[in-house]
Amino acid sequence: MSDILNSQLLDSKPVRLEKSGHAICVVKIGEEVFAIGDTCSHSEASLAEGEITKNGIECWLHGAEFDLRTGEALSMPATSAVPTYTVICDADGVTIKI
Ligand code: FES
Repeated sequence: MSDILNSQLLDSKPVRLEKSGHAICVVKIGEEVFAIGDTCSHSEASLAEGEITKNGIECWLHGAEFDLRTGEALSMPATSAVPTYTVICDADGVTIKI
């Protein structure tokens, strides 16, 4: 069974998911789906409430940007990466591997 159904995942609209004690931010952009840690490494805001940017996702609280592929912090005030997760897509939806 998928963690998120395809119908729940809209293009460039981040979704927060909790699985096995992990808070995860899932983002679909075009045909690609990304999953990174949802908790901003600067001050623990939910990245799923942020905005998609050209290079990744921007935290809504203080504006740090994170790379959706690597989890790397691309701008201040965050200096640490967030985790990334493997995504498995099938006909029904998306499963995140912890
Ligand atoms: S909490 Fe995300 S940039 Fe400060």
